[in-house]
Amino acid sequence: VPHSVSTWLDQPPPSKIDSGVIRLTRPALADADALVTAINSCLDHLRPWMPWAQHPADRKSIITFLNEAEESWNDRGQFLYLVRLEGEPEVVGGCGLHARRGRGVLEIGYWIHVEHVGNGYATRLARALTDTAFALPGVEVVEIHHDKANGRSKRVPEKLGFSFVGEKPDVADAPGEVGLDWTWRAFRDRWPSGTAPRVEG
Ligand SMILES: CC(C)(COP(=O)(O)OP(=O)(O)OC[C@H]1O[C@@H](n2cnc3c(N)ncnc32)[C@H](O)[C@@H]1OP(=O)(O)O)[C@@H](O)C(=O)NCCC(=O)NCCS
Repeated sequence: VPHSVSTWLDQPPPSKIDSGVIRLTRPALADADALVTAINSCLDHLRPWMPWAQHPADRKSIITFLNEAEESWNDRGQFLYLVRLEGEPEVVGGCGLHARRGRGVLEIGYWIHVEHVGNGYATRLARALTDTAFALPGVEVVEIHHDKANGRSKRVPEKLGFSFVGEKPDVADAPGEVGLDWTWRAFRDRWPSGTAPRVEG
């Protein structure tokens, strides 16, 4: 997973985020087998949209991924989480906050296992990640990007009240994509949760 070192973010988000039935945790090597199982049991669902899901996962590739996730967390380049349902061991998705859109901006990414879609989980985790992002000093904007063709992903920022920024050409790096990026933004001052502390100065 490519990432850039984020020098502007002074502190990382929490390693665990609970939002109702959804539990987000910073991944550990002990999660490798659960993650391999989750990805490989819905590869056809992920392949159109996720560049990393073009081939089945295996223990080796996932250990590499988990090591990179750990490194990029420590560098404050990106903060990846595994998604589980409360009290359940299975991984039902993945998500993250990425510091790759410039100073003051965190981007949210997500996927949910095909057996668990349509329950509002992606929307719920994106809301929790937006709350989390705005609780970090220095974060002014949260973005969600999806390919124009990904209508299900589009519903997430739309339902959360993100503002549509626009469409721009992008690399189509997964087979469902048409190569048009749609960008959505939430702004600290206008985010409705009311939990984000103001940063002075
Ligand atoms: C996109 C994804 C994360 C959505 O997860 P989810 O937990 O089902 O999302 P939610 O339940 O919060 O919302 C999904 C919305 O898409 C809608 N939807 C379902 N199928 C759809 C379709 N074919 N076209 C448009 N909307 C669709 C749902 O009805 C729901 O909207 P609603 O609440 O207005 O009814 C999941 O489908 C997924 O993992 N897809 C593959 C990976 C991916 O595309 N990731 C995002 C890359 S930007």
